[in-house]
Amino acid sequence: MAFDIEKFARDSVRVGWEDLDLDVFRKDPLPQRSLRTLRYMCDVEYHTVCYLRDMLVTRSRREKEVGSFMTMWNREEFWHGEALAHVLSLHGITVSYDELKAKRVKLGWKDRLAPIKQSLMSNLVGKDFVAVHMIWGAVNEWSAAAAYRRLGVLEGHPGLAELLRRIAAQEARHVAFYATQARARLADNPKAQKLARLALSTAWRPVGSGIASDGEVTDVMTHLFGGKEGRKSADAIDRHIGKLPGMGGLTIVADSLDARGVPA
Ligand SMILES: [Fe+2]
Ligand SMILES: [Fe+2]
Repeated sequence: MAFDIEKFARDSVRVGWEDLDLDVFRKDPLPQRSLRTLRYMCDVEYHTVCYLRDMLVTRSRREKEVGSFMTMWNREEFWHGEALAHVLSLHGITVSYDELKAKRVKLGWKDRLAPIKQSLMSNLVGKDFVAVHMIWGAVNEWSAAAAYRRLGVLEGHPGLAELLRRIAAQEARHVAFYATQARARLADNPKAQKLARLALSTAWRPVGSGIASDGEVTDVMTHLFGGKEGRKSADAIDRHIGKLPGMGGLTIVADSLDARGVPA
C-alpha cells in the first residue's frame, strides 16, 4: 500500500501554537459563532478516544497497520483538542478533557454497550468490516480537514488561520491513510462495497452527531457548510467518496445537509 505507516509514526508531532500570536484574543475576542464551532470541534477531537475504544474491540484490531496507525492518530487528535482548548481558554471557556471523559462514563449502559455491539457486528461481517471502518474513517477525516479549512477562511485571523492550517494538514495525512486502506480493501470486493454503501447511505451522520445535540450539529454545519462556498466544499467531499471503488453517485454529505435544512 502507498501509505508509509513507519514514516507517519516517525513524523507524528504535537500541533504547536506557542509561536502564534493568539494572546490578542484576550483583548480582541473571536465572535460567538466561531467560538461555538471551535468548542464543537474541540469536543469532537477529545472524544476520539471513545471512537478508538469502539474500534479496538472490532476485527480491525487484528490488522497490524490499522492498529499502529490508530495509536498515533489518537494522539494527534488529542493534541488537536488541546490546541483548540487553548484558544477557547483565552476566551475564558474551559474545556476539561477529564471532565468530558467522566461525562462519557456517566452516559451509562448505552455507551458501555456500544463497543460490544460494534464487536458483534464486526465479527459477523469479518474482514469486510475493516473496509467499512476505513471508508468511514476517510469520510470523517475529509470532513474534518474541510471543516478546519472552512473555519480558517471564515475567520480570517492570521494566528488562528495558521493553527487551523496546521491541524488540517494532519487531518489530510489521516485522510491519506484511511482512503488508501479503503481503496485497497474495496477494490474487486463487491461484498465489501455493498456493505460500505449500505453503511454510509443509512448510518453516516456529520462528525459530532451523538456528541452534540441535534440543534448544535445543524448550527455548526450551517456555519461551516452553509451557503455557496460551504456547499462547494461539502460537494468536494462527496466527490472524493464517489471515486472510491463502488461508491460512485453517493452524495451522503450533501444529503445530510439537505436533511438538516442547511441552505446551499
Ligand atoms: Fe483532528
Ligand atoms: Fe483526523
